[in-house]
Amino acid sequence: MNYLITGGAGFLGTALCNRLARQGHTVRALDDCSNGDPSGLVSQVNFVKGDVNDKPLLWQLLQDIDCVYHLAALVSVPESSLFPSEYNRINVNGTVNLMEAIRDAKVRRIVFASSGAIYGQLDHVPYSESDEVKPGSPYAVSKLAAEYYVKQISADTGVEAVILRIFNAYGPGQRIPNSHPPIIVNYLKHALTNGSIVIHGDGMQTRDYVFVDDVVNALVTSATANGVDQHIINIGSGVETSVLELVRQVRDVTQRKPEEIFNPHKSGGTPRMAADISKAYEKLNYLPMTPLAAGLRLTMERDPRFKV
Ligand SMILES: NC(=O)c1ccc[n+]([C@@H]2O[C@H](COP(=O)([O-])OP(=O)(O)OC[C@H]3O[C@@H](n4cnc5c(N)ncnc54)[C@H](O)[C@@H]3O)[C@@H](O)[C@H]2O)c1
Repeated sequence: MNYLITGGAGFLGTALCNRLARQGHTVRALDDCSNGDPSGLVSQVNFVKGDVNDKPLLWQLLQDIDCVYHLAALVSVPESSLFPSEYNRINVNGTVNLMEAIRDAKVRRIVFASSGAIYGQLDHVPYSESDEVKPGSPYAVSKLAAEYYVKQISADTGVEAVILRIFNAYGPGQRIPNSHPPIIVNYLKHALTNGSIVIHGDGMQTRDYVFVDDVVNALVTSATANGVDQHIINIGSGVETSVLELVRQVRDVTQRKPEEIFNPHKSGGTPRMAADISKAYEKLNYLPMTPLAAGLRLTMERDPRFKV
């Protein structure tokens, strides 16, 4: 099949492009490189630097494409509070622009990478697709608005649409920015360099950490699965892990004893989060294959930044 992957030089995009290319598919990747790096892409991937808001470029790239994966987005929750209009411009306008181009080019299917952040703070776990949504940041609002546009424009134009609400993905290749880095790669880095690990709040807050290979499995299946048009599907591990438990596993897997610094002044955020993944199993035959300890080990093995 022929695929276009927006955000194809990002963390999840790179893993998806490389998997599809290795399977023998034709893969075009579009990324403006604002947070991506195409050097991780295998040579079979046809990379184009550009913006999802550039419609003439999209028309060109969408020729003969069977399925679009839309991953391009700004992805930082704290940053989105500082720059909500920019998050709206890329995550919402960019999605609407892409949907118009997909309609014009008569693409068969779009798979949209949405986020578990859309649920916000609910009073129960696990979070199911039928639960209400309470987005708690401009980032989450932008992903929810984009979901609505993907559903509406695809329904109006006969394009098939699958929306995956991905929870906390982690793995090799995930970027570690200085401010607000993703927790798992940040903890691994500090543990392996004998640094200290900062725990916001009391560390009892839970998240659903899902390994990149499992997310890619779900993305790949979503392109061809039957009976998924217009469906929203959670993708997580289905396991609720506290930050304290994560720290314990990081110590185990790295065989290091980083200093643990509690920062009670900074909230740990939503107290509990975990995905109900029963619909993913039912619709995509999705079963996460990588428990956290194995995922941490694979991250260290495959990512040269963690070589000791
Ligand atoms: N990683 C996670 O835990 C997670 C969880 C839920 C949802 N998601 C979603 O999955 C997608 C990929 O996330 P990721 O973790 O790989 O993030 P990422 O930042 O590594 O990837 C996003 C890519 O989009 C590119 N991009 C940004 N603006 C662009 C634009 N205007 N035009 C073209 N490209 C642009 C960036 O350069 C980057 O390479 C995002 O849509 C994100 O919202 C990720």
